This record gives sequence, C-alpha cells and structure tokens, in this order.
Amino acid sequence: MTRWILLAIVVVIAGAVLALQYFVPVSVRIPYGDRDAVAKGAPLYAEHCASCHGKNLEGQPNWRTRGPNGRLPAPPHDATGHTWHHPDQNLFDITKYGSAAYASPGYQTDMRGYEDTLSDDEILAVLAYIKAAWPRHIQQQHDQMAAMSE
Ligand code: HEC
Repeated sequence: MTRWILLAIVVVIAGAVLALQYFVPVSVRIPYGDRDAVAKGAPLYAEHCASCHGKNLEGQPNWRTRGPNGRLPAPPHDATGHTWHHPDQNLFDITKYGSAAYASPGYQTDMRGYEDTLSDDEILAVLAYIKAAWPRHIQQQHDQMAAMSE
C-alpha cells in the first residue's frame, strides 16, 4: 500500500516538473559557438539588417544623435555599439518585436520587429552571426550578463 502512495507522489512530482518546464519560459541563448547557426545568420544579416546596421556591423554615421525626424539612426552591432550591453533575451525580443515594444507609448523608431519575416531560429542565427564577430572578452562579458539576468 505505502508503495503505491509513494509511486503516486513520484508521478505527481514528475508531472509538476514537466509542466513547469513547459510553462515557465526559458530565456533564449544566442548560439554564437554553433558554426552552422553563424553560417546561416550571415546571409540573413546581409539581407535584412545590413542596410541600416552596416555591412560590417558598423551602424549608421552619428548614430548617437537623433535625425531631423526625431528618430535615432541604427547603432553599430560591433563592439563599439551598445548591442552587447543587452542580454540575449532582450536582443531576441527587440529583433522579434521591434524597439517600440520596449519604449514608452508613441515612441518613433526605424527598428521594426521581424516577427513576420524571420522565424525564431533565424533570429537566433542572425544574432549568433553578430555575437560571433565580437572580441572574445566582449563575448565573455555578454555571457555573464545573460547568466546574471536569469
Ligand atoms: C530600417 C533600418 C533597420 C533595419 C533594416 C534593422 N534595424 Fe535594428 N535598429 C534600427 C534602429 C534605427 C535602431 C535604434 C532604434 C531606437 O533605439 O530607436 C535599431 C536597433 C536595434 C537593436 C537594439 C540595439 C541596441 O544597442 O539598443 C537590435 C538588437 C537590432 N536593431 C537588431 C536588428 C537586426 C537583427 C536586424 C535584422 C534582422 C535589424 N536590426 C534591422 C534600424 C534598423
């Protein structure tokens, strides 16, 4: 009899653990160490991001100063910008939903979301391509930030 009660408890706990994994979102990790992802991200970056963020991730000129229309130019995605100041999940969310989703209502920005253009895997591949281009010490700082933001 006790054996059955114990078994029932184990089954309930296992079920709860599985359910938790399903419902609690796990933060995304940019797979910059995965060569296939980086290789997949390169042409996607060239097609969808380079026109604003630069062929070599250099961003637009004077990217810290708003233009005449009040909008910010595209910042670089290399180590001179502030892309690496944001943890993995933020970069994913900004790319998927656009900058306006994370600013005060009515914020005008040229950074739209790519939800309808790129799959989640493609977004991660583009970000992997970007992160793979950073110097090692910046990658490491960025890894630590992601670990701390959990
Ligand atoms: C039409 C121009 C344009 C294109 C194309 C574009 N972006 Fe942006 N992006 C911007 C601008 C402008 C900003 C700054 C937005 C702001 O803060 O108002 C930005 C900001 C970002 C940021 C936040 C960076 C930071 O340091 O805060 C990320 C991440 C980003 N873009 C990723 C991408 C990716 C990935 C692509 C391609 C899938 C892409 N962008 C395509 C214009 C563009």
